[in-house]
Amino acid sequence: MSHPPLDPALFDLDPSILWVMHCAEGPIPLATARALAGFLKKELHPWEVDFAGDFLGSAARAREEAASLIGVRTEDVSLTMNTTTGLEIVAQGFPWREGDEVLLPLGEFPSNAWPWKSLEARGVSVREVPLWRGHQAGREAWDSPPPTVECDPEGALAAAISPRTRLVAASWVRFQDGLRLDLARLGQACAARGLPLVVDGIQGAGTHLPDLRFASAFATGGHKGLLTPQGIGFLWTREAFRQDLVPSGSWLSVEDGSNFGRASTDFSRAWLKDGRRLEGGGYPALACTGLRESLRTLNGAGIPAISAHVARLQANFLEGLGGLPRWKEEARRLAELLGAGRLGPILALHHRGRGPEGLNAALKAGFARGIHASVREGYLRLAFHGFHAEGDLTRLLAWLAALS
Ligand SMILES: Cc1ncc(COP(=O)(O)O)c(C=O)c1O
Repeated sequence: MSHPPLDPALFDLDPSILWVMHCAEGPIPLATARALAGFLKKELHPWEVDFAGDFLGSAARAREEAASLIGVRTEDVSLTMNTTTGLEIVAQGFPWREGDEVLLPLGEFPSNAWPWKSLEARGVSVREVPLWRGHQAGREAWDSPPPTVECDPEGALAAAISPRTRLVAASWVRFQDGLRLDLARLGQACAARGLPLVVDGIQGAGTHLPDLRFASAFATGGHKGLLTPQGIGFLWTREAFRQDLVPSGSWLSVEDGSNFGRASTDFSRAWLKDGRRLEGGGYPALACTGLRESLRTLNGAGIPAISAHVARLQANFLEGLGGLPRWKEEARRLAELLGAGRLGPILALHHRGRGPEGLNAALKAGFARGIHASVREGYLRLAFHGFHAEGDLTRLLAWLAALS
């Protein structure tokens, strides 16, 4: 029996509801709601808002917590609105040459497709790479076999690199099938060919620790595993990679940007070298306050403790699932992936011929029991976090057993 590293009392959870869908949206901690209310109250009286402490400070503190969360330097963190904006900053700032190609795994969440596809007008193409035998996406997504422990997604991507490839962009944890890529292995394969690896990290952030030793950028929104309100996220970039990106062009991205002692209209300034170089103007101080508080809660519990707890819950759940004839094969497939370190926080149960009707009926039966799960492209997704408890597993198994 393991105790949740995030005490459920830190949240306003309703005991009649079992929320296993932080892969769509996570609950914010009560402390975050209090911090937001406190900041809003100040905004009623702008004379009480301190420019350095509340405005610049909210952003600085959020960057610090973000850096601790993923184990990087604070100066390499840029605040963004969501995952997409982080990836757009890289896509728009990268020094492309006509004819370049971006390599993506097949079936990425569109946040990691459209920023690259928007470059087509600049002569940059996008190529998707199937990650396992028979892997399909798009209109054929429901016909795809699921990933198994034999799959080698990093090997498939590395083998697909062509002389035109300039950058590889991949989700760390995939949104539909829950597969977790080995960022160190993929990053190494990219680095060996002089290519940057850019990561969409949102489905693993907050429950797992990314290995960014060989990556160049990591973008995440906050509203899933990071348990923040919608509309705030961050981007980590490796320093050398960042210096090659064209800055976005904000008044706070240049030296002395916030120093009103110097004429703001004096444009002879250098771009900052740190993460602020890529940020987009006046900070969303309210959202930064929320981001900081949620990340403080996560950092307080510790990501290693959260990921160990999530893995324990997943293993125990899969053991129970293995006892249900209808889900036996899925339980085995997922237990093997879990054992191989291939999963993030999402257990994605493949439909195995039941189709959208089958999974949607399962969802509906779950809602009737207060269980909120989600379905995406062939999979029933159950996402665990640090606030889930062993008792939640019993409830989930009773629901799935009743479907058998
Ligand atoms: C892998 C992945 N990336 C990104 C997002 C969201 O992107 P954004 O943070 O830009 O809203 C999602 C889900 O909504 C996702 O599953």
